[in-house]
Amino acid sequence: MESIIELDNIRTHFQIYKSLFKTVTVKAVDGVSLRINKGETVSIVGESGSGKTTLGRTAVKLVEPISGKLIFEGKDITHLRKNLKSFRRKAQIIFQDPFMSLNPYMTVSQIIEEPLIIHGVPREDRPSIIERALQDVRLMPVEEFKMKYPHMLSGGQRQRVGIARAIVLEPIFLVADEPVSMIDASSRAEILLLFEALQKKYKMAVMYITHDLATAKYFSDYIAVMYLGRIVEYGPTLEVLQNPIHPYTRMLIDVVPDLDPQNRFIQRNVIPGEPPSPINPPVGCGFKSRCPLGGECPNDAPQMREIAEGHMVACHRGW
Ligand SMILES: Nc1ncnc2c1ncn2[C@@H]1O[C@H](COP(=O)(O)OP(=O)(O)OP(=O)(O)O)[C@@H](O)[C@H]1O
Ligand SMILES: [Mg+2]
Repeated sequence: MESIIELDNIRTHFQIYKSLFKTVTVKAVDGVSLRINKGETVSIVGESGSGKTTLGRTAVKLVEPISGKLIFEGKDITHLRKNLKSFRRKAQIIFQDPFMSLNPYMTVSQIIEEPLIIHGVPREDRPSIIERALQDVRLMPVEEFKMKYPHMLSGGQRQRVGIARAIVLEPIFLVADEPVSMIDASSRAEILLLFEALQKKYKMAVMYITHDLATAKYFSDYIAVMYLGRIVEYGPTLEVLQNPIHPYTRMLIDVVPDLDPQNRFIQRNVIPGEPPSPINPPVGCGFKSRCPLGGECPNDAPQMREIAEGHMVACHRGW
């Protein structure tokens, strides 16, 4: 399979001010390796604060990692700062909030045209490209939607504009950061189906960031479960969901009743226990304080091990 993007032991840390003279380090992403091939979707799942968004932003170079490598189409682009234009054209991101991410003073047509201007697409070619993008996201009649401003659109329609803007340059890599979490439930499925159709049409490599295991199950080829800045379990989607090994993955699955009909009546919406802070993550296994398996584990951090074909788990125990 043709690899589009590879993250090799990526660490993305932030310095934040604790007081005027004191800074602390937030280890938002702390040693992630991941590869996404052409036409494949990898879901990143995990609790709030586990580092999903930071990982996505690192993958499209909106933030620079402090160490590790970012390989795009076989080339090391970790420290590339100039000549990013070609990468920016090929790698796009859809944000969670369709209300914040669109310029309120621009029409839909202008919003979608902006990346075309930035990337030097000739003026005479633009109208037909804009039209195709609007058709792609089913904002029709096209002529009508082109002239609208974001405030005239519903949340779902705004996110369609966000998607149109992201795909108008036909990227080969797309990060979708919880693209439907802020849209009302009734239009979510439709937008996800649309998104899936576009992914197939343009054969994009997609990083789909979500809290929702049910949509991850439906859309992705692989699932990566993130906890405290690391991937603790990774593998083919059904393999991970049907045979979860890490206790954290099991807990995440348990709180989504629809995934397993036998769990339908279990009313557990939150995973027990607070995750440790990424500011001073514990030494060794970060899940120790919440682990239901109990018992003694070694003091070192658990490394990823392959327990079935392509199924990797970082846990000292659990199998
Ligand atoms: N720019 C930043 N500066 C400082 N800390 C940050 C920054 N961005 C993220 N963080 C911290 O990094 C950690 C991971 O945040 P991130 O947004 O990546 O998590 P997430 O998994 O996307 O969470 P959610 O599911 O709530 O969106 C959090 O502790 C967050 O506060
Ligand atoms: Mg996030």
